[in-house]
Amino acid sequence: MSRIVYLNGAFLPFEEARVPIMDRGFLFADGIYEVSAIIDGKLVDNAAHLARLDRSLGEIGIRNPHDAAGWEKLQTELVARNGVTEGLVYMQVTRGVAERDFAFPKAGTEPTVVMFTQAKTVLANPLAESGARVITVEDLRWKRRDIKSVALLAQVLAKQQAAEAGVAEAWMVEDGAVTEGSSSTAFIVSRDRVLVTRPLSTALLPGITRASVLKLAAEADLRVEERLISVAEAYEAQEAFYTSASAFVMPVVEIDGRSIGEGRPGPLTRRLRELYIAAARQG
Ligand code: PDD
Repeated sequence: MSRIVYLNGAFLPFEEARVPIMDRGFLFADGIYEVSAIIDGKLVDNAAHLARLDRSLGEIGIRNPHDAAGWEKLQTELVARNGVTEGLVYMQVTRGVAERDFAFPKAGTEPTVVMFTQAKTVLANPLAESGARVITVEDLRWKRRDIKSVALLAQVLAKQQAAEAGVAEAWMVEDGAVTEGSSSTAFIVSRDRVLVTRPLSTALLPGITRASVLKLAAEADLRVEERLISVAEAYEAQEAFYTSASAFVMPVVEIDGRSIGEGRPGPLTRRLRELYIAAARQG
């Protein structure tokens, strides 16, 4: 089956989907994206992803071209057309195509809407068994990280540093505290069994998986504290993990070459991953 993508109202073979070079997403990274997971052929936490998409678009003044029901209909059709039962659906909306000029184009410019799927192993991910190693890097980003902008250069550079170090993820650090992963939310479990993650602010993306995991913490008998995590505290954590639509709950076994806890995925992290998967499957 050839890959089908969605572009501005049409389902097209991948090779035929073309975006003009004057698209503001291409020239200015003037756009927003979202990623939802698919397991058992169904979208995970999708209502929350669509709500964040709507919020991000509103924050930068791009009209949301669809309501949540409209998005979900398109996503479902795309997933079905590609026969994806496990993986991701990517959505992007840019401010559209206009002659290059920094300020917004005149009213009437239509947003560009792109969607594609990626088949991927999400559940039986071997990294979840072995645990991920991470490095810390400086957070080089702008001041509105709560907006899921397609301007991802700092994250690209962070992830490349991780790749060159032979590890799975980079945790970005500002003023001595971890902000978040390059494409994930950072968590630790402290030695007194407290689940710690950074409070929401403009300094980080409000992770959808983060919110779901915080709701499940009580079931894993964990108290939650939303506060800053210093790098020193992360090194000393009992357990650590990161969350995202693509990683779900990913155990961290090493930070900057230092073993975390026993140096293998911790029991509380494994429990949270199981709980998250069970909740995702229930829909
Ligand atoms: N990234 N923080 C950042 C900087 C992210 O890019 C992501 C997600 C998250 C986790 O958010 P969520 O749980 O809603 O996926 C946190 C997606 C998966 C990506 O860019 O591919």
